[in-house]
Amino acid sequence: MLDAQTAPAAPHVTRREDYAPPVWLVPTIDLVFDLDPARTSVSATMQVELKEGAGGPLRLDGGGGLRPLTVAVDGQPAEWRMEGDQLVLDLAGRAHEVAIAVEIAPEANTQLMGLYASGGLLCTQCEAEGFRRIMFFPDRPDVLSRYTVRMTADKARFPVLLANGDHVGGGDLDDGRHWAQWRDPFPKPCYLFALVAGDLACRADQFITRSGRTVALGIYTAQSDLPKTEHAMAALKASMAWDEQVYGREYDLAVFNIVAVGDFNFGAMENKGLNIFNSRYILADPDTATDADYDAVAGVVAHEYFHNWSGNRVTCRDWFQLSLKEGFTVFRDQQFSADQGSHAVKRIEDVRALRAAQFPEDAGPLAHPIRPESYLEIGNFYTATVYNKGAEVIRMLHTLLGAERFRKGTDLYFTRHDGTATTCDAFVDAMEDASGEDLSRFRLWYSQAGTPRVKASLVHETGGGRARLTLEQSVPATPGQRDKQPMVLPLRLALFSAETGKRLAAQMVVMQDAREEIVFEGVSERPILSINRDFSAPVIVETDRSPADLAFLSAHDDDPFARYEAVQQLMLDTLVAGAARGEADHRPVIAAVRDTLADAHLDPAFVAETMLIPTESFVGDQMLVVDPEAIRRTRDALRRDLGRELLEQWRAIYAANHSNRFEYNPTAKGMRRLKTIALGFLAVGGAEDAAALAFGQFNDADNMTDRQGALGVLANGTAPERETALAAFYDRYRGDSLVLDKWFTTQALSMRADTPEQVERLARHPDFTLTNPNRLRSLVGAFTANQYAFHDPSGRGYRFLADMVLAADRLNPQTAAKLIPPLGRWRRLEPTRAALMKAELERMLATPGLSKDVFEQVSKSLA
Ligand code: ARG
Ligand code: ZN
Repeated sequence: MLDAQTAPAAPHVTRREDYAPPVWLVPTIDLVFDLDPARTSVSATMQVELKEGAGGPLRLDGGGGLRPLTVAVDGQPAEWRMEGDQLVLDLAGRAHEVAIAVEIAPEANTQLMGLYASGGLLCTQCEAEGFRRIMFFPDRPDVLSRYTVRMTADKARFPVLLANGDHVGGGDLDDGRHWAQWRDPFPKPCYLFALVAGDLACRADQFITRSGRTVALGIYTAQSDLPKTEHAMAALKASMAWDEQVYGREYDLAVFNIVAVGDFNFGAMENKGLNIFNSRYILADPDTATDADYDAVAGVVAHEYFHNWSGNRVTCRDWFQLSLKEGFTVFRDQQFSADQGSHAVKRIEDVRALRAAQFPEDAGPLAHPIRPESYLEIGNFYTATVYNKGAEVIRMLHTLLGAERFRKGTDLYFTRHDGTATTCDAFVDAMEDASGEDLSRFRLWYSQAGTPRVKASLVHETGGGRARLTLEQSVPATPGQRDKQPMVLPLRLALFSAETGKRLAAQMVVMQDAREEIVFEGVSERPILSINRDFSAPVIVETDRSPADLAFLSAHDDDPFARYEAVQQLMLDTLVAGAARGEADHRPVIAAVRDTLADAHLDPAFVAETMLIPTESFVGDQMLVVDPEAIRRTRDALRRDLGRELLEQWRAIYAANHSNRFEYNPTAKGMRRLKTIALGFLAVGGAEDAAALAFGQFNDADNMTDRQGALGVLANGTAPERETALAAFYDRYRGDSLVLDKWFTTQALSMRADTPEQVERLARHPDFTLTNPNRLRSLVGAFTANQYAFHDPSGRGYRFLADMVLAADRLNPQTAAKLIPPLGRWRRLEPTRAALMKAELERMLATPGLSKDVFEQVSKSLA
């Protein structure tokens, strides 16, 4: 029995095509926890039933060294065996009661999967495969069970005991212990199981659903953090109302609880009726959270709440269908956030995130379709592709069908599949059936990886008063996918008159073929092309538009996204040319920025977005061979010229947007954003008082956006105020780990030449730790996003990252593996750096005892 479990397992590849329905079902499970951080005993009593027409042993997944203490079938001790991590039982009949007892050690659980301890509380994380570290069970999303959970724990240490569903009983026991029982009436897969035990305070509120039911809402945190939960609670109530209005989805239990924990592998988790959050997505007050943090809190609260329908009531058949719930739910949270503020600004932010995280993934060795075909470790597939590109795919359905038919489709989907585990294909089927539209070609978005490229060229035939638009698409080869078929691309476009600025035409072209031609009649004035407006398709567009045409669109396009895009394209073309040739003409960019700043009708948040110069990494993504030094040099030169040439404008903008009373609303947020951008340009433009202004903003700020913004400007420079501000920030916030993360991140993102050594030094700081994922990401994740510093020609950045991954892997493989992708870009760097990067990947691969999480990412990065 022992040998099978301890034998080193060759990494097992799970393939989508191998899906087989479960043989045994588990309609009910009763769990009993005797909670203690050092030693928790867990026992389960499950009803198991053989599926009609099926046969074979009952196989229950285990993991993390889980061993059964006792196994009983129908009340009698039973024979069992281990096959690898699985507990296998040969059962005589078609229905039995199986009872199993195990023991686990939450405080020794550094992976933060299963039941673990965080800051004095006990909590769970089960998605994707954490439940098997708590109890032997068919750990797959298509086995749905009704759960009853009974917990006992020391009352003084763990006065609050929470689980999914409704609280159905509780009371005191001897020895200072107490108990609580919860029952969840909705059958669910085990990845949605949750419990929390701790000394927690609660912000209580309520929501009345549209059918008049009262839902008790609770957000649980440490007592001292309770004042920081107001924003999250407001966002929760807004989400509940929004989902009723926009999707007709009402909440279904009498209780909805959220718990914030300090140690968490990712953002948050949608456990039925008991969401568990990384505290950074719950806690917010003006002194400690930036505007971006406030937005992220609202977005993630909404996301997890929306999962109650898109994920919980209708779940995934298998993990290859992950985008069924994640892509759809990200789309829903994006719509929600857009409705709370500015649609244009939200769209710009979402596209920026897609380009920063998903485009590089799609262009590198880890590229995969939104519905992957195989994996070693499913934890590696919670990616920007599955989430963000997945959301773009749902958005295209919304665009193609229109809001009304899209809603008919989601209604049909929810009715048809309520209470079941289903597939991405079933979602598209519902859209097809509800709309009458043929979406067979569209399904390629689920199977083909790689970002499509569209080449657009517009020819004006002056004689015939005609404009001819030629569109050509190609989808690049990606690992395992050499030849691609043309995709369905909804492209919103318009033509503007170069003479009058009038819009001559606007339409949506649904491109289906590799090459298409569109003819516009009655075009007598020279037309300028506006294409992929509102970013209607997640593609890369290449056009032959001149800098003058882009400058024109930056002032005249009536689609705000296209207007933003015109300035960005102008900047990008300038930077790419500058990086390649050593110099570029900055005048068109300066003119476009000047005009945008002067346009009094524009929303400050929109102006701020437009003023952001493309990141060094994004410029690198456009180059065949990334040259980090040339990119830094040319980007610095453009920043400097923009700063210098528009110095008076930046000064005026700074003064006009500087107010010292914090308010949280879209205009105030936009003004804060614009102000700090102006401060940055004053600093690079050589304003003598820039450091003093920044230091003043840092000291006088009544909110974290202004304070961290000023710190970021100072951190890039050499003024003595830099060290003073960093020290003051540390002293003020050393007791607040979420804010201390910002202190690490700000330094890791610094543009100074000594950043690599500063980051190495910070990794030895007493407040740095590998055990807290937020802290690890705040330093190491931020550093790898700093292209110039990470690609230090010595290779020390690569070595640092590999060392960190190897050290973190011993504690927390899932979080360690997430740090690897930047090294996988080695093929895009010049030969010296490429060799250094590859050597670090090889060193990692040769390290004994690698987790399968890290093994998968490293080996695929080398392939
Ligand atoms: N379902 C969670 C969400 O809302 C994330 C779970 C991530 N799980 C993982 N193994 N990475 O997005
Ligand atoms: Zn999600």
